[in-house]
Amino acid sequence: MKAIEIMGLKKTFTSNFMLKKYNVLKDINISVEKGEIYGFLGPNGAGKTTTIKCMLGLISFDSGESFICGKNSRSLEERKKIGFLPEHPYFYDYLTAKELLCFSGMLFSIPVKKVKNKAKDLLKLVGLEGKEDLKLKKFSKGMIQRLGFAQALINDPEIVILDEPFSGVDPIGRKELRDLIISLKNSGKTVFFSSHILQDMEMIVDTVGIILEGEIIKQGKLSDLISHSVQYYEVVFKDVDESLLKSNNIGFKLKDNNYITKLKDFEKLNYIIEFIIMNHGKIVSVIPIKMSLEDIFLKEIKG
Ligand SMILES: Nc1ncnc2c1ncn2[C@@H]1O[C@H](COP(=O)(O)OP(=O)(O)OP(=O)(O)O)[C@@H](O)[C@H]1O
Ligand SMILES: [Mg+2]
Repeated sequence: MKAIEIMGLKKTFTSNFMLKKYNVLKDINISVEKGEIYGFLGPNGAGKTTTIKCMLGLISFDSGESFICGKNSRSLEERKKIGFLPEHPYFYDYLTAKELLCFSGMLFSIPVKKVKNKAKDLLKLVGLEGKEDLKLKKFSKGMIQRLGFAQALINDPEIVILDEPFSGVDPIGRKELRDLIISLKNSGKTVFFSSHILQDMEMIVDTVGIILEGEIIKQGKLSDLISHSVQYYEVVFKDVDESLLKSNNIGFKLKDNNYITKLKDFEKLNYIIEFIIMNHGKIVSVIPIKMSLEDIFLKEIKG
């Protein structure tokens, strides 16, 4: 059974002016395995937040279906299994961090004593230890984001859905949140998150879905997307007579007393390595240069 399954999701918004209809989601199909980290990637306005809101049953959609753990995601029972961090978390300014988490826990009917302990643990987990009694109006954007993360975990959800979790968080905080997402996966949870920060995504996701103008234009295991995309091999070597390289038509650049040559062809790569060794040269490194997630993303959105 899939953790999340969205099939043929379509959504239109109607403008107030002239009642014109905008097809914001055209035909979204998403499949998330249990226990994986799914990265939902797309430029501004592509439809990420709208998809998430439809998935959670927060807004209606025109057609299609959305299932969480095999059940309709509008079912209240299924929603209890979900933790959600919205894109722009907004909390009541005059609550303290601890009060907010206790309030959130009470909405899930967690007993007061249990929720107090849980709140303390979660604040520690997201790096807000010692801020329990600080009013939220004194929280920075990044601190609110961390608190939003803690709030999304208060019900010990099976599935954690995060809309732009890294937004406004500094590099150290991003590393901590990445580690936290990985630890959620290690404890058996499924994590679905949207982000623009491709590097963050590349480091932790199992599966990626790229959305553009309301359509999923690519979806697959990150390892498949990236391993199929070696662009070229870079060979760095030294101690070979330069005239030999020239007479054998081996192109190169010089950097820090090393030669660097780039090869697309795997057969040629083996030939060059043999050539260097036969001529008493030394191989410094052989690096397959792969397409990064950013390269794949840019290639897809530029067509
Ligand atoms: N309530 C609404 N009424 C009308 N149009 C909307 C509404 N909400 C979103 N849209 C439009 O739907 C499209 C998708 O918006 P959405 O917020 O889902 O994009 P996104 O991928 O989350 O973008 P971002 O990366 O900026 O968060 C945009 O063109 C947006 O203007
Ligand atoms: Mg959004």
